[in-house]
Amino acid sequence: MRNSIIKVLLIALVTATTLWATTPTYAQTQNIENADNMADVAGNSAEKFYSTLPKAKGDYKSRVRPILIEGAMNTETEVLVRALKNPVTYSELNYLFVAGTYKDYPVVVVRTEQGMANAAAATALAIKKFNPVAVINQGTSGGQDPALNIGDIVIGSRSFDYTAVKVAYSAAGEGADLTNQEMRGVYSYDAASGKFQPYKEYFPDSTLFKIAQNVADANKNFNVVTGVIGTGNTWLQNIDYINFLHETYGSSCEEMETNAVAQICQNADVPFIGIRVLSDNITKSHDYVPETGKICQDFVLLVVEEYIRDLLKK
Ligand code: 5AD
Repeated sequence: MRNSIIKVLLIALVTATTLWATTPTYAQTQNIENADNMADVAGNSAEKFYSTLPKAKGDYKSRVRPILIEGAMNTETEVLVRALKNPVTYSELNYLFVAGTYKDYPVVVVRTEQGMANAAAATALAIKKFNPVAVINQGTSGGQDPALNIGDIVIGSRSFDYTAVKVAYSAAGEGADLTNQEMRGVYSYDAASGKFQPYKEYFPDSTLFKIAQNVADANKNFNVVTGVIGTGNTWLQNIDYINFLHETYGSSCEEMETNAVAQICQNADVPFIGIRVLSDNITKSHDYVPETGKICQDFVLLVVEEYIRDLLKK
């Protein structure tokens, strides 16, 4: 009798431990907005802190063209905004822009909000309003490369829109194999032909790319790789499809802004780079960790510092 009770207890313990160890925890992904509203670096929420900043009077004026740094959410902009000296805020179509200086050089931080249309609109408005010398889009992303871990940084060697595809026909009842697809790309202005042309991928500015790599080499406390950033408004959780994208297009991570911003920067002929931290990696059942947004901003500030040095040399 006693033996069989112990046996039952043992089986229950083993089952519970196995379940605990093998069950992927993806539930937290729905809490991004929650975490974002509570973004907290120095004891008060980002939202509250932003509202205390002085509002700009009149148009933006700067002797030199500022550097524009973008983040979609509070958790992806707060460190940057707090790093600015003499910050003033601007609002255009309800997007928040904070202009100030960093290392005595003019910098504008924009909270683009999530998604491709918002990122593109905020970028276009910022280009018209601030005439930036360069645009850095940065923030969190989901790993598509199983070799990458939460907190790793991807310097975008190129980006693409993983939704800009034509999917092969299949009739009703035949199922939906999305991997049977042809990349179409997204349109932007091509100066050589004087027309909008489809681009299957966009490349970063070579100076920014080199500087970002140098900063990575000199700061071994960050885990940095160069890699491909996949953009779409879709949050993927189908491992087979993620593996397909990773194998077909070489994508390191997915997110919702980079390629849309690259597109607008190509239209405006403004140097661009995308830099992303891994906040989640479903290929390893890893949940969204909002705190990773800080790692990316800390790294980007080092890149900005080096870029300023480079600009001032010219
Ligand atoms: N898939 C898509 N977007 C992601 N982001 C972080 N992780 C992912 C993911 N796995 C970023 C997007 C968007 C917000 C949801 O966070 O860029 O702004």
